Amino acid sequence: MASVREACTHVVGAYGLAAVCADEPGVIAVARKDSPIVVGAGETGAYVASDVIALIDATRDVVVLEDGQFAKLTPAGVEYTDEAGNVIEPKVTHIDWDLDMAEKGGYPDFMLKEIHEQPRVVRDTLVGRMTPAGELDIDELGLSLEELNDIDRVYVIACGTSYHAGLIAKNLIEGWARIPTEVEAASEFRYRNPIITPTTLVVAVSQSGETADTLAAIRDARIKGAKVFGITNVVGSPVARESDGVIYTKANKEIAVASTKSFIGQVVSLTLLALLLAQVKYRLTTKQARMLFRELSDTAEQIQWILDTQTEAVHEAALLCKDAQSALFVGRGMGAAISYEGALKLKEVSYLHAEAYAAGEMKHGPIALIDPGFPVIAVATKSATYDKTVSNLMECKARGAKVIVVATEGDEEINKIADCIIRVPAVRDVFSPITASVPLQLLAREVAILRGCDVDQPRNLAKSVTVE
Ligand code: M6R
Repeated sequence: MASVREACTHVVGAYGLAAVCADEPGVIAVARKDSPIVVGAGETGAYVASDVIALIDATRDVVVLEDGQFAKLTPAGVEYTDEAGNVIEPKVTHIDWDLDMAEKGGYPDFMLKEIHEQPRVVRDTLVGRMTPAGELDIDELGLSLEELNDIDRVYVIACGTSYHAGLIAKNLIEGWARIPTEVEAASEFRYRNPIITPTTLVVAVSQSGETADTLAAIRDARIKGAKVFGITNVVGSPVARESDGVIYTKANKEIAVASTKSFIGQVVSLTLLALLLAQVKYRLTTKQARMLFRELSDTAEQIQWILDTQTEAVHEAALLCKDAQSALFVGRGMGAAISYEGALKLKEVSYLHAEAYAAGEMKHGPIALIDPGFPVIAVATKSATYDKTVSNLMECKARGAKVIVVATEGDEEINKIADCIIRVPAVRDVFSPITASVPLQLLAREVAILRGCDVDQPRNLAKSVTVE
């Protein structure tokens, strides 16, 4: 046990460790950092796993090990110690889930379980991505630094939620790396004649890695000479196999039809790609990249804060939406991209019609929709365009809209116009999609539940679309 404790002081990164030693048969030494480890002792022995579900046939009393805690398993039971080797009394949780609940990790549905996994997805997607010297490490890139440096145009191609991740990537790649970037629905891209040269990078984003339109677009782009880079959640999927390089999003299997955790994994992966392109193009220094990477990592805890504190606000917002015929999502910049995804999520799980608009476009048509009680859901986190979005919301309010705002913690000004506020922690605007998307996922699910919908299996939809 002492050797494992000592070894852990030298280990960098996230791990869940179960070690055995030939000199000490019958002992398993367990440690963790940022990766789940669950320990339990039952009548037939002591057990360790990465998930409660693996243990419930053997014991219902489990200990979810915390960072800095160690467990020594023997046939007689388990001894828990801290970093200094002192014996501690761990927190034992009694699991009274049935098998169905166990599969869902104790949550009522997979969608909620997957939303709650997002802090872990952020951490896992980032593990090992920055070297101690401050260099980004994407070893599966498949392109040399020279090839990357030559890139002068980027197309992000994807469908549905993955397309919305692409909209966020455009802001990042153009903002940091200054490379012209277009985002296109793969179903459109494949049937037109885009300008592609050997210095074009096509980034294909697909959770399943098998969406028919995205695959067809990749093949077409390769024939035309583009370099193709895949962002997918499924190891060995067609998108991974047919791309020059790939980043895996580490969301693990996503079961609910509505993408949530895979979206967050995509945005984090695309952020890494944008940072790398910016470094290669000498637009960001190592110091800047390291600072941004640290802030990107912090979003894991910031998501957790939202999950821990905003449930009531989300419920209140859902009550304002549940009987509506339609809802409008608005925002500017990153807020607009988040709004598109929020509207898609609401449509697909609650069957409530929703549209998203860049807030500045309201006066060019959508404002005609607003009448008393109409729900307007705004992403108005603190950014350079915050005041503009607030003034758009005042126009909605003046026409009787119910204004629901995803706003930055500490922003009191928004209290004057919002009927309901869902708070998110203050983050740099480029990282706001990772945090501000979460309340909209929760909102879509809550509205769907209030309307009696099956959030995991919405009608007419399949998890992956392998035909045109
Ligand atoms: O597997 P993909 O990411 O390629 O799937 C693309 C879309 O079908 C998918 O994002 C769909 O829009 C989701 N159901 C949205 O939640």
